Amino acid sequence: MAKRFIATAYGDPADVLEYVDHQIPAPAPGQVVVQTRAIGMNPVDIKSVRGQTGSDASKLPMPIGYEMAGTVTAVGDIADPFAVGDEVIVYPASGAYADSVLADVRAVRPRPAALDVERAGGLLLVGVTAADAVRTAGLTESDVVLVHGGSGAVGAIAVQLAVQAGATVIATASPANHRFVRALGAVPVSYGEGLLDRVEAATSTPITAVIDTVGNDEAIDASLALVDNPGKIVSIAAFGRAADGIVLVNGSTPESRRHRAEAVDDLIAGAAAGTLLTEVAATFPLADAASALVELEHAHPRGKFILLP
Ligand SMILES: NC(=O)c1ccc[n+]([C@@H]2O[C@H](COP(=O)([O-])OP(=O)(O)OC[C@H]3O[C@@H](n4cnc5c(N)ncnc54)[C@H](OP(=O)(O)O)[C@@H]3O)[C@@H](O)[C@H]2O)c1
Repeated sequence: MAKRFIATAYGDPADVLEYVDHQIPAPAPGQVVVQTRAIGMNPVDIKSVRGQTGSDASKLPMPIGYEMAGTVTAVGDIADPFAVGDEVIVYPASGAYADSVLADVRAVRPRPAALDVERAGGLLLVGVTAADAVRTAGLTESDVVLVHGGSGAVGAIAVQLAVQAGATVIATASPANHRFVRALGAVPVSYGEGLLDRVEAATSTPITAVIDTVGNDEAIDASLALVDNPGKIVSIAAFGRAADGIVLVNGSTPESRRHRAEAVDDLIAGAAAGTLLTEVAATFPLADAASALVELEHAHPRGKFILLP
C-alpha cells in the first residue's frame, strides 16, 4: 500500500494534512508507477492547502504537490517508453507528496545521470514557468529586461533564459543575493523604497520589457512607470493587477501551455549540462511536509525546498 499526504480541509498545514494509505491501481497502458525519491516544493502547494487558490469543498480530500523525481516500479505496457528501474522526472504529477505516484507517460521524462535527483525533482514547475514568461515577453538581443525577483526559484531561471535570448538583464534581489544574480548574468538592484530610481540608474538605455515573479504593487507600479507598453510586462504573480493591461501567465491559455510543454526537454538538458544553474536550498523528510510548507511560506529561500521520502 502506498502512502500520500492529503489535505482534509483548507487551513493550516499542521491541522489539515494527513499522511494516509493510498491504493495505486495497476498502471494502464500509457501509465507508470514511480517511487518517489525527491519532491519539489512550490509556493502554490501552501497556497492551495490554505485555500488561497480556491476553496472548493468538492476537491477535498486534496492530494498535494506537482513535481517529483524517482524510479519506475511498474509499467502499463511493455510498449511504453519506460521500464522498471528507470530514473525519471514527473511533471505535472498529481499528489507528489507521496511515496509513489501513478503518472501518465506524457508527464514523464528520463532523468539524465548528470542531473542529481534533488535538483531534478524541483526543476520543472519553476523552469517551465520561467520559460513561458520569457517566451511571452518575446525577448531578443535588443531588449533590456527587468526581472523582479531574480534571485527566486522562477526568477533565477528567467534571468538565465533572458540572457540566453541575448537580452540585457537587470534583476531585483536582496543585497545578500546580488553576487548570485550577477553570476547569472544580470545587473542586480535591491527592491524596496527607491526601486524606480535604482533601476533607472542601473541602465543607460530604457527598459523595454519586464518579467515579474514578485507580484506586489511596488513591482508593478515601477514596471508601468518604466515601460510604455503594458503588454511588455509579463507577470506570473500579479493577478490582482490584470486591469493595468499587463500580461499574466499561469499555464491556463493554449499559448502558455505550448510554451511550457516546449520548454521541458531543454530545461532538463540545460540543468544536466550545467548551462542552466538551479539550486537546492534545503531538504526535509517527507514526514515533515506540514512544517516545511510553513517554512517555505515565510522563507523565500534561494533555490528549492525538496522533500525526501
Ligand atoms: N503563474 C505561474 O504559473 C506560477 C508558477 C510558479 C510560481 N508562481 C508564483 O511566483 C511567485 C514566485 O515563486 P518562486 O518559487 O520563484 O518564489 P521564491 O523562490 O520564494 O522567490 C521569491 C523572489 O521574490 C523576492 N522577494 C521576496 N520578497 C520580496 C519583496 N517584498 N519585494 C520584492 N521582491 C521580493 C525574493 O528575493 P530575495 O530572496 O533576494 O529577498 C526572490 O527573488 C510565487 O508567488 C509563486 O506562487 C506562479
